[in-house]
Amino acid sequence: MISSQLLAYVAILVFCTFQAHSLETFIAAVYEHAVILPNATLTPVSREEALPLMNRNLDLLEGAITSAAKQGAHIIVTPEDGVYGWNFSRDTLYPYLEDIPDPAVNWIPCNNPDRFGHTPVQERLSCLAKDNSIYVVANIGDKKPCNASDPECPPDGRYQYNTDVVFDAQGKLVARYHKQNLFMGEDQFNAPKEPEVVTFNTTFGKFGIFTCFDILFYNPAVTLVTDFQVDTILFPTAWMNVLPHLSAIEFHSAWAMGMGVNFLASNIHYPSMKMTGSGIYAPDSPRAFHYDMKTEEGKLLLSQLDSHPHHPAVVNWTSFASGVKTLSTGNQEFNSTVFFDEFTFLELTEVTGNYTVCQKALCCHLSYKMSEKRSDEVYALGAFDGLHTVEGSYYLQVCTLLKCRTTDLHTCGDSVETASTRFDTFSLSGTFGTQHVFPEVLLSEIQLAPGEFQVSSDGRLFSLQPPSGPVLTVTLYGRLYEKDQVSDASSDLTARALRVMLIVLIPVGFSLSWTD
Ligand SMILES: *[C@@H]1O[C@H](CO)[C@@H](O)[C@H](O)[C@H]1NC(C)=O
Ligand SMILES: *[C@@H]1O[C@H](CO)[C@@H](O)[C@H](O)[C@H]1NC(C)=O
Ligand SMILES: *[C@@H]1O[C@H](CO)[C@@H](O)[C@H](O)[C@H]1NC(C)=O
Ligand SMILES: *[C@@H]1O[C@H](CO)[C@@H](O)[C@H](O)[C@H]1NC(C)=O
Ligand SMILES: *[C@@H]1O[C@H](CO)[C@@H](O)[C@H](O)[C@H]1NC(C)=O
Ligand SMILES: *[C@@H]1O[C@H](CO)[C@@H](O)[C@H](O)[C@H]1NC(C)=O
Ligand SMILES: *[C@@H]1O[C@H](CO)[C@@H](O)[C@H](O)[C@H]1NC(C)=O
Repeated sequence: MISSQLLAYVAILVFCTFQAHSLETFIAAVYEHAVILPNATLTPVSREEALPLMNRNLDLLEGAITSAAKQGAHIIVTPEDGVYGWNFSRDTLYPYLEDIPDPAVNWIPCNNPDRFGHTPVQERLSCLAKDNSIYVVANIGDKKPCNASDPECPPDGRYQYNTDVVFDAQGKLVARYHKQNLFMGEDQFNAPKEPEVVTFNTTFGKFGIFTCFDILFYNPAVTLVTDFQVDTILFPTAWMNVLPHLSAIEFHSAWAMGMGVNFLASNIHYPSMKMTGSGIYAPDSPRAFHYDMKTEEGKLLLSQLDSHPHHPAVVNWTSFASGVKTLSTGNQEFNSTVFFDEFTFLELTEVTGNYTVCQKALCCHLSYKMSEKRSDEVYALGAFDGLHTVEGSYYLQVCTLLKCRTTDLHTCGDSVETASTRFDTFSLSGTFGTQHVFPEVLLSEIQLAPGEFQVSSDGRLFSLQPPSGPVLTVTLYGRLYEKDQVSDASSDLTARALRVMLIVLIPVGFSLSWTD
């Protein structure tokens, strides 16, 4: 009797404790950081010279971290390359690296700074987290010595990794992620032999982490969501904006919606290299975003998010479009290039209409109504079904409504930042061969349209109200990850020939990084 009462009491206690400690919402912060770059150099600086530069950047990050904590943030994300910048060879990067241990060692660098050698950057980040009682996410460089016992050991006897680290509110290292999908020219780093899937639990949900170019590929990005069911993605990035489909705020918010997760994107602020665009995105809508090509200043964003966002009903991305009966508009199709890919387009010649355009297996269907059909602006509906092979190799299926740069149809797909045409309604769908489709809406002057559109379970991206600004693009950006690898023998040969060509070409073009 007593013991069962006691048990009930304990159960209630445990339940209450659990209730008290698990949060339904939390406050997220991301910092767009105007990074201070080191002076370009052919010969490595000393460790003593590397530290002051990193500390100058950490001073700026400290300002953002303390300000975020004062405003109640539980976690703050800072950008890729935010501590030491870029434009390094393997050798000139080396003085900026620290040995970062596996978080399983259970280490609070702030309390025990000498446990793993000389690690002042980790110590400072850990103390910033501990002293401000906030999770701190940063991107720094890891070095791991290797030798001939490892056949893949680089000739200089070490691996160098582009690394995200997370310190919890006690300053403990709780996550370490080595970037998998390095961007072209990122030769100062090695990719890990196997993709690392890094997650950690908090009282405000389960977190996953990956970096910049990783967002275009299956591993580890999609795996974190589909196999590990994380609630929130942490995303340090140094993202160069590419219109019409790969501007940072546009694509990152689309990934959050397409995958049904919270997404905390922290970009570098460096307008002369088109790096700006950070945000806090929930699956239903962006909560905060920042895009600024005009000033040189960093920017702190904060917003409240659900700890466990509702995953939207599963979308069948081909259901609606495959039932559409195509009527010819009589308009002539034309080809035009969008970021090196040749799309098939149809011009929207009327103020309202139903249009279909197809390429290979993909048919895209658009119903729309403009407020007025202007004579000084041309819009087109485009389809692309193919392998993109420029700065990376990734298979796309894309349906897009976009504003052409001029009234010349050959400019459809060129970068354009302003528009004047307002739409009353739009509904875009396509016969996608994938469940991984990212819905984008971008308005004039690179603005998002929070709460103004939705995706239906039969795969339509449609407006809920007339968009608040003129439209630059409405796009369904689909990825067919399984077709990234060219499979047939002849393409295999081409790919091998290309790789050989690259291996021959790269040392000529980037001789700096091959001086070891
Ligand atoms: C780069 O060099 C200039 C001139 O020598 C110096 O004034 C500046 O502080 C250096 N910048 C960094 C980040 O070291
Ligand atoms: C990168 O470094 C090279 C040589 O070290 C230099 O010529 C070039 O100007 C640098 N680029 C930037 C963007 O700093
Ligand atoms: C080579 O590396 C292995 C594994 O990291 C290590 O156990 C071994 O001691 C190293 N050998 C030498 C000669 O340094
Ligand atoms: C997070 O918590 C879940 C259950 O609450 C557990 O299954 C999982 O292993 C935990 N993950 C980590 C990384 O601790
Ligand atoms: C999606 O819809 C299409 C067309 O209605 C149907 O053929 C297909 O089976 C559906 N796919 C799934 C996974 O339900
Ligand atoms: C568009 O390009 C495709 C090949 O990508 C070609 O077959 C087709 O004829 C072109 N159409 C026009 C109108 O030029
Ligand atoms: C487009 O299709 C919808 C539904 O199929 C129809 O109600 C509408 O009248 C059509 N609009 C035009 C301009 O043809």
